[in-house]
Amino acid sequence: MIRRISILLVVCIGLYAKTSAQKKTISQRVDSLLRLMTLEEKVGQLNQYSGRQVTGPVSQVKTNLLNDIKNGWVGSMLNVKGVKDTREIQEAALQSRLKIPLLFSLDVIHGYKTVFPIPLAEAASWDLEAMQQTAHIAAKEAAAAGIHWTFAPMVDVARDPRWGRVMEGAGEDTYLGSLIAAARVKGFQGKQLGNTDAIMACAKHFAAYGASMAGRDYNAVDLSDQALWETYLPPFKSAVDAGVATFMNSFNTLNGIPATGNAYLQRDILKGKWNYQGFVVSDWGSIGEMIPWGYAKDDADAAQKAMQAGSDMDMESRAYKGHLVKLVKEGKVAEALVDDAVRRILYKKFEMGLFDNPFKFSDYKREAKVLNDPKHKTVAREAGRKSIVLLKNEAELLPFTKSKSKIALIGPLVKAKRDLNGSWTVNADTNQIVSLYEGMKNKFGKKTELLYAQGAEVEGESRAGFDEAVKIANQSDVVVMALGETWDMSGEAKSKTNIHITGQQEALFKAVKATGKPVVVVLMAGRPLIFNEIVAKADAILYAWWLGDEAGNAIADVLSGDYNPSGKLPITFPRSEGQIPLSYNYYNTGRPIKDPENIIYKSAYIDSPNSPMYAFGYGLSYTSFNYSDITLSADKLNASDSVAVSFKLTNSGKYAGEEVVQLYIKDEVASVVRPMKELKDFKKVFLKAGESKTLNFTVSKEKLSFYNSKLEWVAEPGDFEIMIGTASDNIKFSKKITLQ
Ligand code: GLC
Repeated sequence: MIRRISILLVVCIGLYAKTSAQKKTISQRVDSLLRLMTLEEKVGQLNQYSGRQVTGPVSQVKTNLLNDIKNGWVGSMLNVKGVKDTREIQEAALQSRLKIPLLFSLDVIHGYKTVFPIPLAEAASWDLEAMQQTAHIAAKEAAAAGIHWTFAPMVDVARDPRWGRVMEGAGEDTYLGSLIAAARVKGFQGKQLGNTDAIMACAKHFAAYGASMAGRDYNAVDLSDQALWETYLPPFKSAVDAGVATFMNSFNTLNGIPATGNAYLQRDILKGKWNYQGFVVSDWGSIGEMIPWGYAKDDADAAQKAMQAGSDMDMESRAYKGHLVKLVKEGKVAEALVDDAVRRILYKKFEMGLFDNPFKFSDYKREAKVLNDPKHKTVAREAGRKSIVLLKNEAELLPFTKSKSKIALIGPLVKAKRDLNGSWTVNADTNQIVSLYEGMKNKFGKKTELLYAQGAEVEGESRAGFDEAVKIANQSDVVVMALGETWDMSGEAKSKTNIHITGQQEALFKAVKATGKPVVVVLMAGRPLIFNEIVAKADAILYAWWLGDEAGNAIADVLSGDYNPSGKLPITFPRSEGQIPLSYNYYNTGRPIKDPENIIYKSAYIDSPNSPMYAFGYGLSYTSFNYSDITLSADKLNASDSVAVSFKLTNSGKYAGEEVVQLYIKDEVASVVRPMKELKDFKKVFLKAGESKTLNFTVSKEKLSFYNSKLEWVAEPGDFEIMIGTASDNIKFSKKITLQ
């Protein structure tokens, strides 16, 4: 036995020595390279250019850019993709004096060649493994096409659907968003950076961009430190803990200081308190944008402020290239800061293996093979199905189990393809997208006659198509309408004051509904929309977001009952824009509404309920779930132990299906006012019809903790409400426990 232990010990010491030697090898290699670099070459590593003009025919821009690359003035390129172009540009970089390879980056937000559901749609699946899987496939495909680094996941908590970028994130909740951030980082980065099925991820936009004033892009953010730490920072910390390779800062100011020039964010928190070892890239031009913000007087001033604040790499503002050498020579910026930034960037290039083989990700054979792997479509279809949220299903109209002889497909998005990919697709082939029409044909085409009419445009006031739509509705057994947004109505630079469904779409719905036929409305959009007439009168409603390549098949799988919808909303759907910002974790106020009939002098509107149209965590199923037999292991706990919560979940309906059971807590009295509820755990459970399962949650002090006014992470003794629900506004159990 002793002999075995000693052998084990020798092996472990050997392994440790090797690993630490390997680790030391990268750091040593970085330092020895740094010693060879001129100040100009160091600054060169801090520049990132967009390659939009570099690919394609020779142009003056391309010539100048290639010259800069050959002279070592560029450390990274974005918007260059594909083995051919990345090889050509990497060859230029290897003509520089020290032959330092470039990093190639791209916005691979929800797929490279295979397009998956938009991130907000995937968040509605509450399926962390599925999200990790799609991110990993996106990484495999991008890595096969010469890409080393994606600008994803976007981890901004967002509670304002006027902001078009809600489509890119994980919705309104910090806890769910933190878990999704980690899942996506692990998906993109795989087992180890340097493997050719993994790319560097990027946690963005640091920080609190989702709280942009008035839901408007590029705007100011004013937050208390308590709100910053409690709501907006945790998903970034979760990304750090998951090993995220890079960060991207954000266009917004935080409490008066642009994030790009914000040392509190980038140095005190990220590189200080969190001891982050990766590097920070500025968002597009944000260093230079400190001039219009009125925070820098010119590019030199902006460069100085950004470098001092911890922005390591300059995306496209060229402030570093133009001024950093001089600023260091004038003693205005310490060269040590430049060295630290360069070290961080070089470390990643070594870690990715680019010095050993600058072309390891630019392999023609692998590109052809990986980008056409049919298995990726299967995963896209699965992810699509899981992302669909069933909002309404009167009289169990759905699923269409009984064969319908005639289904009328009506609406401007029935045959849409490009729209189903959303606005962040970088290499998709529109022809590969399965439209709803095609999906329905694949599913129902053999035994059902499909009638089609566009009826109206997504935007535009014409009703010329109504008659045809009404005509085919009258000829059908049931109508399926596809309404919503085109791909360019949500995303970056798509802030809106009015998020009602556009044009004559709702009027078209009313005209079709007036025929008396049962109507299923499938809504396809990047953000929560307002569609109150449809809510009131449709027989069934599916929220299908933008589901990517397999959208049509995924929706048909749900309509046919081949998949029982399991999605739950990751973001609140308001009744009107006037309610925004609106989220489930609201405060009770000193004058809560007790009786909806008596709201005078209460925290209320005189023209609308406070409640949303659809709440966070809401989503129906074709089956029903019964919650029973809740037990708690104790009704008191002290700081060191925990309470076990268990209950029985039964599938009491006739279809197998999945339920997302949600655990919320409320701190009854605390030194900082606490929300009415906070999501602290969830489980997604599959049950066959009639099957029951006992489910367990553990409530520990950690789940009862929050940031107090001194920014200490504390759990204060007192009473807490433990709630188990099927939605944030549909609580099945509520039990009190006391923290002693
Ligand atoms: C954009 C976005 C950012 C993106 C970057 C590169 O402005 O804000 O999310 O990664 O520029 O395209």
